[in-house]
Amino acid sequence: MDQADSLRQLVRSQGRNDVGVVVSKKEANTRIIAVTSGKGGVGKSNLSLNLGLAIAKSQAKKVLILDADFGTANVDILMGVFPKYNISNVIYDQIPIEEVIVEGPYGVKVLPGVSGVAQLTSLTENQKQFFFEQLELYQDKHHPDIIIIDTGAGVGNTVMNFLLSADEVIVVLTAEPTSLSDSYAVIKTLHQYNSEMKVSIIANMVNSENEALKVYSLLQNVCSKFLAKSIEYLGHVSASKTLCSAVREQRPVLVNYPNATVSYEIIKLAKKIVSIDPAGKKSFSNFFSLATKYFGWND
Ligand SMILES: Nc1ncnc2c1ncn2[C@@H]1O[C@H](COP(=O)(O)OP(=O)(O)OP(=O)(O)O)[C@@H](O)[C@H]1O
Ligand SMILES: [Mg+2]
Repeated sequence: MDQADSLRQLVRSQGRNDVGVVVSKKEANTRIIAVTSGKGGVGKSNLSLNLGLAIAKSQAKKVLILDADFGTANVDILMGVFPKYNISNVIYDQIPIEEVIVEGPYGVKVLPGVSGVAQLTSLTENQKQFFFEQLELYQDKHHPDIIIIDTGAGVGNTVMNFLLSADEVIVVLTAEPTSLSDSYAVIKTLHQYNSEMKVSIIANMVNSENEALKVYSLLQNVCSKFLAKSIEYLGHVSASKTLCSAVREQRPVLVNYPNATVSYEIIKLAKKIVSIDPAGKKSFSNFFSLATKYFGWND
């Protein structure tokens, strides 16, 4: 059986819970949203972070952000914190997850990722067990409402594993034709493995809502024609010099510029995301269990 077959089997089995993954009783409590894109540099990390902050601030939800872009993890940099540890220290050095997770504004927690490591490979049973126990402990103690996974870009297997293990996927795109075609590539690949996955889009760095709706309409038409799939439009974030300033200041735009248009747009998105609360959520450890069960994080 090749990797694609394994992935299909994993996906076919997901709903039935017959892949040997222990589904915990906490299943319905945590909503896991993966944020991804076809093309890099479209604003995934800034949106993951600021949406997480907006959901915590305006919707009073407990949010955990997981930096799962193992190539260029940078949520901590955008937040201006310097974590002592990252996710690899939990897995390889058995550092308790409580010591690894850092707290940002509005009580948002961040599990820092690893930079410059393309993949975390070949986890032993002991490493997995420790890691999953830590996740369960964390969930038991803190009961996060929403976990936002900031993934890398593209259709690589590491990214796909995370997307397929989440409850839903947000694809961030811009109005550039390359972003549009690369977004379609991600949605198509995801669709081949799980045609039921809920996919929505956020149009970032656009000049107007009209431009965002046009991009959405083009993508929806292609998805509808070739995949018979509906994708949801969540909204847009304008191209914003204020956001760029916040990046340079290493402070989230929502914190440093709460009254900027871009912050209002992000809060509007946060409200919409929270208002569409899907059923059938996974627990945190089940998410990782699925992500690691067949592939061990590797490409
Ligand atoms: N709404 C926006 N307006 C203006 N510039 C933006 C906006 N969103 C993102 N950017 C710019 O794009 C850059 C990349 O953003 P970000 O790091 O969030 O993208 P990414 O998709 O996570 O990138 P990567 O694929 O490398 O992980 C930011 O540093 C910022 O300069
Ligand atoms: Mg990023």
